[in-house]
Amino acid sequence: MKAQEILNGMTLDEKIYHLVQMTTMTYLKTDGTNIVTGPNSRMQLDKEYIYEVGTLLNLVGAQTMIDALTNFLNGSKKKVTPVFMQDVIHGHRTLYPINLGVAASFNRELAHDLAAMAAKEASLDGVSVAFAPMVDLVRDPRWGRVMESSGEDPYLNGEMAAATVKGFQGDMGKYNIAACVKHYAAYGGAEAGRDYNTVDMSERTLRQYYLPPYKAAVDAGVKMVMTAFNIVDGVPCSGNKWLVKDILRDEWGFDGVVISDYSAFEEMIDHGNCQDRKECAYLAMEATEDIEMMSPCYALYLKELINEGKITIKQVDDAVLRILKLKEELGVFENPYRSVNVEEAARVQVGPEHRALARCGAEESAVLLKNNGILPLSKDVKSVALIGPNANTGEIHGSWHCGGKIDETITVLEGFKNIIGDRVKYAKGCDILYNSTDESMIDEAVKLASECEVCVLCLGEHQEYSGEGNCRANIELPEVQYKLLEKVLEVNKNVVVALFAGRPLAISKLDELAPAILDMWMPGTEAGNACANLIFANAIPSGKITMTFPRELGQVPIYYNAYRTGRPKLEEDDFNRVRFTSSYLDMPNSPLYPFGYGLSYTDFEYSDFKLSASKMKRDETLVASVKVKNVGKYKAKEAVQFYIRDVVGSVVRPMKELKGFEKIELDIGEEKTVEFTITEDMLKFWNKDMDFVAENGKFEVFIGKDSRCKPYASFELV
Ligand code: BGC
Repeated sequence: MKAQEILNGMTLDEKIYHLVQMTTMTYLKTDGTNIVTGPNSRMQLDKEYIYEVGTLLNLVGAQTMIDALTNFLNGSKKKVTPVFMQDVIHGHRTLYPINLGVAASFNRELAHDLAAMAAKEASLDGVSVAFAPMVDLVRDPRWGRVMESSGEDPYLNGEMAAATVKGFQGDMGKYNIAACVKHYAAYGGAEAGRDYNTVDMSERTLRQYYLPPYKAAVDAGVKMVMTAFNIVDGVPCSGNKWLVKDILRDEWGFDGVVISDYSAFEEMIDHGNCQDRKECAYLAMEATEDIEMMSPCYALYLKELINEGKITIKQVDDAVLRILKLKEELGVFENPYRSVNVEEAARVQVGPEHRALARCGAEESAVLLKNNGILPLSKDVKSVALIGPNANTGEIHGSWHCGGKIDETITVLEGFKNIIGDRVKYAKGCDILYNSTDESMIDEAVKLASECEVCVLCLGEHQEYSGEGNCRANIELPEVQYKLLEKVLEVNKNVVVALFAGRPLAISKLDELAPAILDMWMPGTEAGNACANLIFANAIPSGKITMTFPRELGQVPIYYNAYRTGRPKLEEDDFNRVRFTSSYLDMPNSPLYPFGYGLSYTDFEYSDFKLSASKMKRDETLVASVKVKNVGKYKAKEAVQFYIRDVVGSVVRPMKELKGFEKIELDIGEEKTVEFTITEDMLKFWNKDMDFVAENGKFEVFIGKDSRCKPYASFELV
């Protein structure tokens, strides 16, 4: 086989350099300057081997790829084709909504199709691997990277992970790319929601909540795994043998490529876990990490470690072989340029078809958080005052925009014009800065509001207030935005708020003030069209949040699938003070909006709840079912949710756990039966002895519109 043959022909130095990942930039100049300047100078790599590295990162542009690869192959002695890897997070050139939004669609096919679209665009630019899906479970909205995640539920994250992996990889054809699930593991557990911060949790919590989404990606055939910056049980993931070798490879059977995060090997020194780069290289190799992204520990020290007998050539060979096998599968040995195509890229990327799919994605991701009946607006509306810092900007397509361009993003103003023409008038009202105190634009906006029939306020965050390194200690709307809203309400009560944010915000006050709130997240390239379509009912909201919205930051972490306590506060007492229960003096326990919550313009009636039996043997399955009827005025989609509670366990069990969901579409008056099959596997958990088993006993069953639904039946596992 080709990979093995190539390995056999490589010298030890060539093998070691094959484990290094450099930026594509390095190879865009041929005069050597890029190799020794900038971040590369810190690497101190041997110039002789710089053209022998195995993989490159960060690439957008077909011509850029062709230039870089041509230079690379000209400079290389061995000429083993490098592959290009890139952050394809929520689209490549055409952006779809941030992943927290896509998850809110509760639509696996949509997640799949969006990833497939991104893969096609990326492959035409010469990208072969997407550093996605990011499946870190999240419970703290301060963390900027919640936008990349599917939220707080292990099952939902796993389903979205699998759908995304399959969308990227397909049958590994021309327009497919390999997926790289990240950040293994538990990066989302960063204390205080501060990026790169300490993660500390029990093995039980790790296995029960945080690991399943990565495993779901592995089970779906993901080709690569990226380890995280953080520690798990005191050891940085990059050098965490237990996590990578024992669990990922031996327990889950993953035999693909493991890559570090950006310079994360070297950061083990900053963590205080390694003396020097040599120790970093040793621990990473022991953990079976294959590719070192943007730090030089392997390149500078693996040889020494081999000479000292600390690691073996076999370990290095195994790592190189895994990379070569991936390359073989990608077909780059037959054709180093793979699917890159300048003309086709120009034609396909951000073309009408991709815009249409991205728009569907944005429409189905949006969540209607509140509606007193003002929405949808009639297209015959006389005039709309479109106000707010997010109304007339392309900077709402979301952080991690990769190849997405602000000037290709449809603003909300443009979206409204596309539907009601010049009956929309615009005033900015205030700026978007989180610390802005500038009220000078409010008067103009209020004047406009007083002259129009309806006001739509585009509030929220700037797109770069979430994403990597963008964390917030305050997740409320800025005071100036509230002032704007209050002043507008004084002159016009017909107000709709379109919220743009990369995270759940603490918006209790907004919920009190605004007649309607539509959470658009950060909706991608077709932002404005999607927003306008939803507001004028060209599309019907069907998204449901996958991360709890707290009333106030002080409730964080707040998530639906929490363990029970010995002194629970009864739900009916939520707003009362009941001392000596698990509760607050000054705040209910319930969130502002719970997991799974989202409204529609129509109404769905749930009836005929059934469970096929009240006892289940281990080799049997049960069926839970419900009839759902559209009793409202619009054809629309609904995410039907299925939860189970394990009533008694050898260790405490969550209040309830999502075990299934189905996104259905119903015409006006139409009814459908939705079924969920209960299997023994669904009931398994890490018990007292840390065995993954289902224990005999009682289980309660819930089907409903959101995570507040009540149990309607129970069964016994015997
Ligand atoms: C991020 C990763 C990303 C990598 C490469 C890191 O800073 O944590 O998610 O894939 O950079 O761009």
